[in-house]
Amino acid sequence: MNVLVIGANGQVGKEIIKKLKDTKHNATALVRKEEQVQELRNLGADHVVLGDLEEDFSHAFKGIDSVIFAAGSGGSTGVDKTLLIDLWGAKKAVDYANQSDIKHFVQLSAADSLDVDDESEKMKPYAVAKNMSDYYIEQSNLDYTIVRPGPMNNDNANGKIELHQTTRQDHFNDYLITRQDVAHVLVETLGKEHLFKKSFYIKQGDSSIVDALETVK
Ligand SMILES: NC(=O)c1ccc[n+]([C@@H]2O[C@H](COP(=O)([O-])OP(=O)(O)OC[C@H]3O[C@@H](n4cnc5c(N)ncnc54)[C@H](OP(=O)(O)O)[C@@H]3O)[C@@H](O)[C@H]2O)c1
Repeated sequence: MNVLVIGANGQVGKEIIKKLKDTKHNATALVRKEEQVQELRNLGADHVVLGDLEEDFSHAFKGIDSVIFAAGSGGSTGVDKTLLIDLWGAKKAVDYANQSDIKHFVQLSAADSLDVDDESEKMKPYAVAKNMSDYYIEQSNLDYTIVRPGPMNNDNANGKIELHQTTRQDHFNDYLITRQDVAHVLVETLGKEHLFKKSFYIKQGDSSIVDALETVK
């Protein structure tokens, strides 16, 4: 499959590109700056396409079968960018995916996307953006998979996770998970039909990623 990675220059995005190199899939990295192109090529991207989520980036979907959305405005920008990237950028990606007959849309969401009112004042706009973009995906005609990790760190891959399909009874947003493991989960979901139209939470655990994904009903 030809896989478009949106947010490919990000910390998770780069791990996704590296992971895709070990699969039969072809990786297309969407980045917003010319100076990011060579590094993504070096990491293993088969194609690199320039595009900005605040503009029209529909050209990036040409020849693409599946999409991983791993972009985000980050913690150092204001609520305006949270709205424009995490919410509106994701909404546009879903629309382009629908227009392009994309087979599978994989969304990197967050464990704190559900109970917005329980979030800190600082996190509330982000939680709203993720909550509503997830909802927009769920209401679309796409075959999607929504992955909700808690806070991520840059430790080496653990390779083992715990996965739940229900809500935060287990306080998933209190538990760390490595970006490498999150990237592995996102790549492993690609094209797996039993994961279509499913959402789940992940944290570090005792099951192999493949085994944990097998449990999704
Ligand atoms: N941090 C956590 O603990 C946590 C937990 C759960 C879920 N998440 C979600 O995971 C996502 C990825 O995390 P991360 O650590 O990889 O974040 P990151 O390193 O900040 O990566 C985000 C990527 O989005 C790209 N981006 C932002 N605005 C863009 C635009 N207008 N057009 C195109 N690309 C744009 C950035 O591009 P540049 O490289 O050009 O800046 C960057 O490459 C987060 O955004 C968040 O939604 C995070």
